[in-house]
Amino acid sequence: MKETILVTGGTGFIGSHTTVELQQAGYNVVIVDNLSNSNATVVDGIEKITGTRPAFEHVDCLDYEKLEGVFQKYDIKGIIHFAASKAVGESVEKPLLYYRNNIVSLVNLLELMPKYNVKGIIFSSSCTVYGQPDAENLPVTESAPIKKAESPYGNTKQINEEIIQDTIKSGSPIKSIILRYFNPIGSHPTSIIGEMPNGVPMNLIPYLTQAAIGIRECLTVFGNDYNTPDGSCIRDYIYVVDLAKAHVAAMARILDGKSEDDVEIFNIGTGHGISVFELINSFERATGVKLPYKVGPRRGGDIEAIWGNVDKANNVLGWKADTPLDDILLSAWNWQKHLREAGIQ
Ligand code: UFG
Repeated sequence: MKETILVTGGTGFIGSHTTVELQQAGYNVVIVDNLSNSNATVVDGIEKITGTRPAFEHVDCLDYEKLEGVFQKYDIKGIIHFAASKAVGESVEKPLLYYRNNIVSLVNLLELMPKYNVKGIIFSSSCTVYGQPDAENLPVTESAPIKKAESPYGNTKQINEEIIQDTIKSGSPIKSIILRYFNPIGSHPTSIIGEMPNGVPMNLIPYLTQAAIGIRECLTVFGNDYNTPDGSCIRDYIYVVDLAKAHVAAMARILDGKSEDDVEIFNIGTGHGISVFELINSFERATGVKLPYKVGPRRGGDIEAIWGNVDKANNVLGWKADTPLDDILLSAWNWQKHLREAGIQ
């Protein structure tokens, strides 16, 4: 058995998939989650997939004393920090909730790490830090300028990146890898774990699969008059299992002492931009399901086009997203069908 890794937010969408990949790579995993946006039954699902039950602690990362108890109980060597509030719209309504949840959690972890000899932390950041890159900066590299955040949620990602940089610059004996995700989608190939949106989904894929299965009347494509080849927005959609594997590669890099800098930043995407219409076509092709959709007005605050230059992750991290889009969309569809069969949605 390799080292023990603390996964905060480990029952969430990306956290659960990452726990599976960590276990399958031989790591021992401790999950900390406050279950504010997830369910403890996810731990059963993880065990079903890997045959090993991760330790689970129902703790809020805002609670310093309880969090310290977790560090006392386990010999944690690395942290993957997912626990955060993540709804862009809600963050505009409740900025202080977002600033408290997302910033204090990280500060608590960074304070505890040196005290308990934890070597490194992988932080979930987002391509949202780039805003809308200028056309000549697409695909966007890690050195592209950081734009003023469009929402408190986006701002917490930027501030947290700075908190990590400042803490390590001040001499804290830890290392960090910041992963800037593009758009994570899909579900585990077993359909045992997947994305569980709360209420009406805000993101494209859960809304699309709910429309395809009849929970929603139809998908609305937010705008077809953008300056893109087919008029719809372009994103870099990355399979959540590929994304999970990027965390395993990053954790190994820190624990094996291979980091070249104390803080390293990697874009995590496919390197390909896909439009909303292309994605709908791919979904229909992969599943054979006709998707009900219509074109509606643009959504406020949407970025027109962004996709990542992922050369650094490919070459330095030795990781590559290689799952074809059709397979990813089929996994999302299978998950939606699983939720229907299980009577959940
Ligand atoms: N879209 C639709 N109809 C929908 C939902 C989305 O057409 O019902 C379109 C959007 O306009 C956009 C694309 O699908 O063009 C993707 O939208 P998502 O909401 O799935 O994803 P975003 O790129 O807007 O947001 C995601 C994450 C955020 C993160 C952001 C930038 O949800 O947390 O990427 O990193 F901040």
